[in-house]
Amino acid sequence: MPSSSPDTPLIQVRNLHQNFDSHRVLQGVDVDIYPNETVCLLGKSGGGKTVLIKHMIGLMQPSQGSIKIGGVDISNMGERELAPIRKKIGMMFQNGALFDSLNVAQNIAFPLREEGIKDVDELNQRVSEVLEIVNLSGQEEKMPSDLSGGMQKRVALARAIVVQPECICYDEPHAGLDPITAEKIDNLIKQLQQERGITNIVITHELRSVFRIADRIIFMKNGKAYWQGSPDEMKASSDPTLSNFIAGSES
Ligand SMILES: Nc1ncnc2c1ncn2[C@@H]1O[C@H](COP(=O)(O)OP(=O)(O)OP(=O)(O)O)[C@@H](O)[C@H]1O
Ligand SMILES: [Mg+2]
Repeated sequence: MPSSSPDTPLIQVRNLHQNFDSHRVLQGVDVDIYPNETVCLLGKSGGGKTVLIKHMIGLMQPSQGSIKIGGVDISNMGERELAPIRKKIGMMFQNGALFDSLNVAQNIAFPLREEGIKDVDELNQRVSEVLEIVNLSGQEEKMPSDLSGGMQKRVALARAIVVQPECICYDEPHAGLDPITAEKIDNLIKQLQQERGITNIVITHELRSVFRIADRIIFMKNGKAYWQGSPDEMKASSDPTLSNFIAGSES
């Protein structure tokens, strides 16, 4: 994959449409994601946020339009061509999606094993390195069911970063967390951006987090990227859709 400069988008979405039978979910999305920024993706439930990021990681093929990653069009790629590109973009799925029957270390090592890494010392070393980043050192042997919701999310984050992606998509990383735990996740997201140069795309309904972490906000409405701007621009906007969203979230 060609590397991106700060001025060239890491991900470029153009005129993206996605229909499920007669249900038109995405109706011409145009979005650019630049290297080393944190973008928050907002919009009402069912508005197509998850569907949009599934296209960005090549999990869905568009009905119409294109998605370029580092300048390469992935819209109609097959699994084999997609594999090296997918490695560049990690994903923290809505609801965590840890494997219940695997312990923490096995969960985190899973994508490394998929890459063909078998050396036990290397696997252990990489697992312990990312557990330290998410402040869960020494928790290798725990089962997901023995962890709190916030810890499970941090393990999911460790699993996303262990393959050293350029970009991480987070689907509602704050859902179900108390405000203090949510803030810890926010700190980790910003730390990854600042210390490792990672680009973050965060779907969330938590406005407090949005205003803490976002460099830029993309607001989805009617199947399109309806509005884009900075947190300050969103707060100052007189657009009723945005002010109603802010008022609704704070009530
Ligand atoms: N694979 C699919 N097949 C059919 N319909 C789907 C599929 N995936 C999503 N949809 C529909 O697309 C619409 C948008 O879904 P999506 O999950 O992207 O919403 P969202 O904005 O992420 O909402 P939420 O904030 O509740 O997570 C929904 O009506 C959903 O039912
Ligand atoms: Mg969703």
